[in-house]
Amino acid sequence: MNIKLEKPEDYREVENLTREAFWNVYRPGCTEHYVLHCYRDNPDFIPELDFVMEEDGRIIGHIMFSKAQLVLNDGTCKPSWTFGPISIHPDYKRKGYGLRLLQYALAEARKMGVGFLCMEGNIDFYSHAGFSLAGNFNIHYHDFPKEEVVPFFLAQELIPGWLTAQGIDEATYCPPKGYFVADENPEAFEAYEASFPKKEKLRLPGQLATQ
Ligand SMILES: CC(C)(COP(=O)(O)OP(=O)(O)OC[C@H]1O[C@@H](n2cnc3c(N)ncnc32)[C@H](O)[C@@H]1OP(=O)(O)O)[C@@H](O)C(=O)NCCC(=O)NCCS
Repeated sequence: MNIKLEKPEDYREVENLTREAFWNVYRPGCTEHYVLHCYRDNPDFIPELDFVMEEDGRIIGHIMFSKAQLVLNDGTCKPSWTFGPISIHPDYKRKGYGLRLLQYALAEARKMGVGFLCMEGNIDFYSHAGFSLAGNFNIHYHDFPKEEVVPFFLAQELIPGWLTAQGIDEATYCPPKGYFVADENPEAFEAYEASFPKKEKLRLPGQLATQ
């Protein structure tokens, strides 16, 4: 198993991997491969934290990071970070690869000075890599009431004391605009999706209720 930076010649293979990993998991079909496709041209994209994992001579995993913002109660914006999509090919899921890829990427992010991450995900996976509820840090999720515990909104202080050092004792997080490209450009997304082999979209138990 090898982890290295993604190269332009990997892009299509990695987008196909992302599509395979997310297909029908959270909604019928998925849009995460299009998010990734568009993100590499986004100034929030962090090329130094764009990793692929290889095994058996093929790419089986990928993770990318993004610049993000925390908004203080007085409206001041503070730079922060997030990550995702993270993908492991379906043939390799639940064998420890995802956790190894995530732990590697977090260590590299810490070396680069990434002090605090928040993201949406399943705590049953991300708790293994040090994440807990973002509410524990007094960080709120943008479209939920501040007092509500949001079980999928997770965070980690990669550099202990980073929030205090930045003068952040409470803030609100909204995912960066780059994560909404498929909703904002449905026709462009459909044209992009049509460039992949057809796959059946299924409504399955466990998908997000609102999709
Ligand atoms: C989520 C994902 C990256 C995890 O990678 P993985 O290689 O399958 O996970 P790992 O084997 O490293 O998991 C380590 C532990 O995390 C937990 N875990 C992993 N995936 C989980 C899931 N879907 N639900 C609950 N717990 C999970 C388990 O405790 C697991 O240990 P176990 O298998 O011994 O029980 C991968 O399954 C994937 O690509 N899924 C589809 C896309 C996706 O959901 N990406 C994340 C979006 S937030």
